[in-house]
Amino acid sequence: MSDLVSLFQKLDYGPAPESDQPAKQWLESHNHSFGFYLNGNWEMPEDAELFSVENPATGEQLATCRQAGSREITQALSGAKEAQLKWEKLTGHQRSKYLYALAREMQQHSRVISVLETLDNGKPFRESRDIDIPLAVRHFYYHAGWAQLIEEEYPQYSATGVVGQIIPWNFPLLMLAWKVAPALACGNTVLLKPAEQTPLTAIWFAECCHRIGLPAGVFQLLTGDGRTGEELVCSKGLDKIAFTGSTSVGKRIRKLTADSNSKLTLELGGKSPFIVFEDADLDAAVEGVVDAIWLNQGEVCCAGSRLLLQESIAEKMVGKLKQRMQRLRVGNPLDKAIDIGSLVSKIQLERVERLTAEGVKTGATLWQPEITLPDKGCFFAPTLVIDVDPSSILAQEEIFGPLVATMTFRTPSEALELANNSMYGLAASIWSENINQALYLAPSLQAGVVWVNCTNQFDAACGFGGYRESGYGREGGREGLLEYMKPKITAITDKKLNRPDIQSLGRTTTLEGSEIHRTAKFFIGGKQARPDGGTVRPVWNKDGSLAGTVGQGNRKDLRNAVEAAQKASSWSKSSGHLRAQILFYFAENLSLRRQELETRLQQLIGCESNEAKQEVDCSIQRCFHYAALADKFEGALHQPPQGMLVPVLNEPLGVIGLISPDENPLLSFLSMLLPSLAVGNRSIVISSYSYPLIANDLIQVMETSDIPAGVVNLISGNPTEMIETLAAHEDLDGIWVFGSQGEVRQAKRLSTGNLKRVWSSEGQVVDWYSSAAQGREWLQQASQSKNIWIPFGE
Ligand code: NAI
Repeated sequence: MSDLVSLFQKLDYGPAPESDQPAKQWLESHNHSFGFYLNGNWEMPEDAELFSVENPATGEQLATCRQAGSREITQALSGAKEAQLKWEKLTGHQRSKYLYALAREMQQHSRVISVLETLDNGKPFRESRDIDIPLAVRHFYYHAGWAQLIEEEYPQYSATGVVGQIIPWNFPLLMLAWKVAPALACGNTVLLKPAEQTPLTAIWFAECCHRIGLPAGVFQLLTGDGRTGEELVCSKGLDKIAFTGSTSVGKRIRKLTADSNSKLTLELGGKSPFIVFEDADLDAAVEGVVDAIWLNQGEVCCAGSRLLLQESIAEKMVGKLKQRMQRLRVGNPLDKAIDIGSLVSKIQLERVERLTAEGVKTGATLWQPEITLPDKGCFFAPTLVIDVDPSSILAQEEIFGPLVATMTFRTPSEALELANNSMYGLAASIWSENINQALYLAPSLQAGVVWVNCTNQFDAACGFGGYRESGYGREGGREGLLEYMKPKITAITDKKLNRPDIQSLGRTTTLEGSEIHRTAKFFIGGKQARPDGGTVRPVWNKDGSLAGTVGQGNRKDLRNAVEAAQKASSWSKSSGHLRAQILFYFAENLSLRRQELETRLQQLIGCESNEAKQEVDCSIQRCFHYAALADKFEGALHQPPQGMLVPVLNEPLGVIGLISPDENPLLSFLSMLLPSLAVGNRSIVISSYSYPLIANDLIQVMETSDIPAGVVNLISGNPTEMIETLAAHEDLDGIWVFGSQGEVRQAKRLSTGNLKRVWSSEGQVVDWYSSAAQGREWLQQASQSKNIWIPFGE
């Protein structure tokens, strides 16, 4: 019986391979050898180290590329700097035309780029053709639109400057598009480093830039491995770094760039939950799992790799899933009837094999369908691991392969607990026919994206990015655009902030022998508390008289404060209206103490009465400002082409540490605390070192203003010591440092443990009276957006 007749009888798919010829011809036309695209020229230095690029499905060598080093990076940086000024000066319309031309070129050549992507990465051609490339093209169209509109819609913003971008190998051209399109639209110039495993479509893109006449230096390409990446992030002259890749490298970049002022966004790993309730459409959910974990061989940062099943349907769902898995087709990625292609490299295959073996050793049950894998290439069978312990490596580590770990739950709150039991927070998917239940759970999931009855949906108009150790910053939509701009007016001055000589401010002493009744206490969990270490220090008025003594906080005090803040989590779920009411009330109570505060400012700082009056007045206005904004800092509604609704919620970061400066001690203290409160964060505030009593004077105002216990916690102490503990604390989600440059660097360096968001004035003095010392930018820094995808219709 011929193969064809047998296929007709079995009604099975026959092979439907896509021709690799156009892509091969392109490689051939370059002699399979590529250099760097620098300042509008292709450079192939003879002394550059070479590396080989292979097709992971066959092992065939596709090309030889060059490793960029400091010479190329320096050259690229100077070109990018020069080009940036001109590029930003073009009108939005002019930039828009370039982006539009790029979109058109990519669309017209989509077939050849899809094949190239598949050859380079091992992913099924069907996915390159139907997902990667169309989404990349859409990104350029969408941002061609933003380039056109930017002057009109964002007159108060300018480009960030020169941007260094590092992308991974799982969606090579799509990740390029996510990064390059918004950067160029806003007027930045770009130095891009693709992954060493998959540089080919980025090279093709650089050629495309050349063809459409993109000005030299606007987009430059530096190929190489992690060494090139590291050299790039460490080089001076980048205004922003955008990285997508593993959490470990993301943390390393945070540490390496602690001394630099460049903006940083990190899109890192995930271990996303896929939650199926008993009332879900199970057949649809099975197809959802196929998409969630077998798209791109599971090499997807937001892959639904933890399958959480309600106990009552777990067995049935696993049965259906096994049946479906039996029909999955693994093989030649160019075959259009293939579901799962090759992993990206031997190293990745070994990693997946090793983690799977380690996980299974801890007691879970592994199941794989009877599928014959090709004998060559980096293939791994679709894998289901049942009854995985939530603490298992399979439930905690990003495996980045076609393996899904199942766990069961009984109640929605158990589902939530399991889902959030991860250091990551990139995405989550909820399956239930009860939309009320799904939408009730969505805000409680620690994830930047939530898909309801769908999964792995992406669009240029929607924000994508993580909570927790999945990184920070967003790509896509207005959220993503803002990451490539900076406000034209800023409250940050050019003046360097210097803390006074801390030693000269008074030696510490023990509580014994000091005038205990005058010791200003800490405020922790709604109660005034003595310092744990029992040490206090005197604080002097400007005229040299003793103003009082303040406690010197230590680790234990800070731990108590973070614990109290964690317990006050209901504040983060309270309505904007409630927070507005409380902030108005706070302003009212503050104005009742106006006289007392003015006198205190005059005594401590030695300012004139009109200056003290101005600071108190402005502080009361600032309370009104944030009370007014608390119920108006709303999200948005995206309407992507998929025909779904995507509401965006602005959610608080959680618990933030605030390090206050000495300048305008009342106004600066409130300017930091109020935006944090207004969006629903709980705070640990370290009061100004020189004038801590001002913050202490506000404790009674807070107590009488209905601010719930634990929402604001106040501690005084040496800022350097306080930052050391706060930045390293795993239960703190962010830290704002409006102190010296040394303090800022220390916070950035030490905050990598749980990747807390660090925001600072980069060690510069802030003009606290400026209109830019308040407003939406502050609320944005205190919050993170969550995109919830909701399909509708039958
Ligand atoms: P990786 O994080 O090392 O590579 C991503 C990019 O960063 C590549 O361009 C690489 O050259 C660059 N890079 C590596 N070290 C660098 C450094 N020190 N400084 C600057 N850039 C550097 O990821 P890798 O090793 O290829 O994959 C290992 C694991 O990472 C995967 O199994 C997966 O779990 C995770 N991963 C996650 C991705 C995501 O999108 N979340 C993407 C790729 C990998």
